[in-house]
Amino acid sequence: MRTAIYPGSFDPVTLGHWDLIQRAEKLVDRLVVAVLHNPSKTSAFSVEERVEMLRELVGERPIIEVTSFHGLLVDFAKTQGAQCIVRGVRAFSDFEYEFQMALMNRKLAPELETVFLMPKERYSAVSSRLVREIGSMGGNLTELVPPALRERIAHRLQQD
Ligand code: PNS
Repeated sequence: MRTAIYPGSFDPVTLGHWDLIQRAEKLVDRLVVAVLHNPSKTSAFSVEERVEMLRELVGERPIIEVTSFHGLLVDFAKTQGAQCIVRGVRAFSDFEYEFQMALMNRKLAPELETVFLMPKERYSAVSSRLVREIGSMGGNLTELVPPALRERIAHRLQQD
């Protein structure tokens, strides 16, 4: 049984994340999409909201689970019996941060592999940070977030 963890902040989930989930799903037997509880980082959406939106998006796909985690990713991965971590790389600018994190995770847990996947080119410039910024100013979120969640995300960002 091959289990992968796809960790992230998902604040909020974007079309880039969704593209990656669908790519990762084809490679493993079980995919755990995991939202980090990060008390030191202020977020626009609560962890519960982020998990709920991801669950709505994933629907009834049997091999995908959505959950949240505290603490070190490698410790969470062990509790899930995972063999690998999936991360998305959109552009060269993502690489340095991802490379550092992958090597550090390897130091902490040598048996765990990090696998990088590339989302569709059209999502190269899509990030949760830009979604938050555009959404909070009433901009159009089409092409940035999944259609089924667009209203909810836009509404919520305009409340802040
Ligand atoms: O979506 P993000 O914010 O780029 O995701 C970053 C995340 C959640 C993958 C990373 O911050 C993480 O794994 N945090 C958990 C704490 C941890 O394990 N830190 C050491 C990383 S080398």
